[in-house]
Amino acid sequence: MTTFINSLKNRRSIYHLGKETPLNEEQIEDIVKEVVKESPTAFNSQTQRVIFLFNDAHHKLWDITESALKPLTPTEVFPSTQEKLKGFADGKGTLLFFEDTDIVKGLQEQFPLYADNFPVWSEQASGLTQTNVWTALSDENIGANLQHYNPIIDEAVAKEWSIPSSWKLKAQLVIGSIKSPALEKEYMDSTNRFKTFK
Ligand SMILES: Cc1cc2nc3c(=O)[nH]c(=O)nc-3n(C[C@H](O)[C@H](O)[C@H](O)COP(=O)(O)O)c2cc1C
Repeated sequence: MTTFINSLKNRRSIYHLGKETPLNEEQIEDIVKEVVKESPTAFNSQTQRVIFLFNDAHHKLWDITESALKPLTPTEVFPSTQEKLKGFADGKGTLLFFEDTDIVKGLQEQFPLYADNFPVWSEQASGLTQTNVWTALSDENIGANLQHYNPIIDEAVAKEWSIPSSWKLKAQLVIGSIKSPALEKEYMDSTNRFKTFK
């Protein structure tokens, strides 16, 4: 089996995270920047944007999320929500993935024939970039899980870190040392998944 497929198999959602990662913040940033740069985008539009949150900033994000969720969550289930969010805060950091909507709009104007496709391609570029980053960090024995508290946190996040108004938040990748591995994963039957014609 190729090392690439092994890397894909090893990338899992890790929820029990700690702060003692084998790489430091600068090393993590360097890898993520390379991966983002090498991840393809439609028309090479390079719409992906990433914010690195470590230490106080990482904790602030999960405080913001708790405050945003509180009025939306039934009181009796809020303690379990808090527990879940604490699990994210226990990690070393969070990577915020954005897409620059100004670039998407510019492409729509420039290529009206594909206008409807550009927002879709932007989503696809963000998703593939997220999994590339997730897999690259997993290769370095750094665990991660992918969260989507957007759009409820968008406004507070933009205010806290002065995010440009054209940057649209797409996902939050929580990263850290692997305290417990992922459970075994189930796979659907391949016969229902693939078709070959010759
Ligand atoms: C597009 C996408 C959205 C996801 N959203 C969430 C999420 O909001 N919260 C979460 O805990 N996991 C989320 N996940 C993780 C999936 O639940 C997980 O990848 C899937 O169950 C397979 O498990 P694995 O990551 O361990 O292989 C998401 C994954 C993808 C690809």
